[in-house]
Amino acid sequence: PKERGWSFSHVYLFEQFWCPSSLIRERNIFQKHFHAKQSDVLVASFPKSGTTWLKALTFAIVNHKKFSSTENHPLLTSNPHQLVPPLYTFRGNIHDQILQLSNMAEPRVFGTHIPFPSLPKSVIELNCRIIYICRNPFDTFVSAWAFFNKIKVESLSTLTKEEAFEMFCNGVIEFGPWWSHMLGYWKESVARPNTVLFLKYEDLKEDVDFHVKKVADFLGCSFTQEEESDGVVESIAKLCSFEGMKDLEVNKSGTINFEIKRFENKLFFRKAEIGDWVNHFSPSMVEKLSKIIEEKLSGSGLSFKMHS
Ligand code: A3P
Repeated sequence: PKERGWSFSHVYLFEQFWCPSSLIRERNIFQKHFHAKQSDVLVASFPKSGTTWLKALTFAIVNHKKFSSTENHPLLTSNPHQLVPPLYTFRGNIHDQILQLSNMAEPRVFGTHIPFPSLPKSVIELNCRIIYICRNPFDTFVSAWAFFNKIKVESLSTLTKEEAFEMFCNGVIEFGPWWSHMLGYWKESVARPNTVLFLKYEDLKEDVDFHVKKVADFLGCSFTQEEESDGVVESIAKLCSFEGMKDLEVNKSGTINFEIKRFENKLFFRKAEIGDWVNHFSPSMVEKLSKIIEEKLSGSGLSFKMHS
């Protein structure tokens, strides 16, 4: 089935997820030509769940010995999406892009919004480590709606917030349904905890230092006692903080070629709050989305913090 979805273009139901047609094509090319390496790390998420933040943290953690000083750290002059390129959702010559990825320094860190069942086979076979971040669907909706409005996507320009919300509730949004997206990674993280680490945006907000250490342990690059007492954990958390990143020149005035168009980096930084949804949701929206969460996630053990 094809729908005018909440996406850059139409979305198609592919392996039970709503995807743009380009993604389906790219996926087939990737299955054939992309070869994962055992040391690869995947930062996975549903869009607007904290991808930029987790990309920055993972990049900084993985490279903490290489860039021990924060003075000339790549994150000070590059947007996290430049340092952690996406798997698929490229446009242009995809074979050139695969070649570029194959030349990246190891361990390679990639980002992806691809649902778990559609990941490249080699990623699964090699047990590449995957870190997934999810966010409460109320804030995710608000963040996504704000983002899509700013980038002025043609297919969305005639949508009202109510219509967009309806689609979100029906799961008709790029990479949706969001509940299946989350549950796919959630179940995998329960079954294979050494391979999939499941994080929540709200938990990271509550204690980022703890999660910096947790990610490092998961990736097998734990901090030494000495590094910890030198404040390495805190300096990574600070380097990747919303306040720190949004005021960098690269994120204020830089742009990135992302998916179908060139985006201003500042679009990835809005409010970064838990509970901003209260300013945007009507009581009936709250009721409807709460019901869907209850219905779709009950029994899974997955739950969300809704307020800071
Ligand atoms: P808001 O729109 O609620 O402000 P993604 O990176 O997946 O596109 O998600 C974007 C959301 O993460 C936005 O949320 C954005 O402000 C927030 N964000 C970006 N960088 C962040 C950071 N360093 N720390 C915390 N939140 C961040």
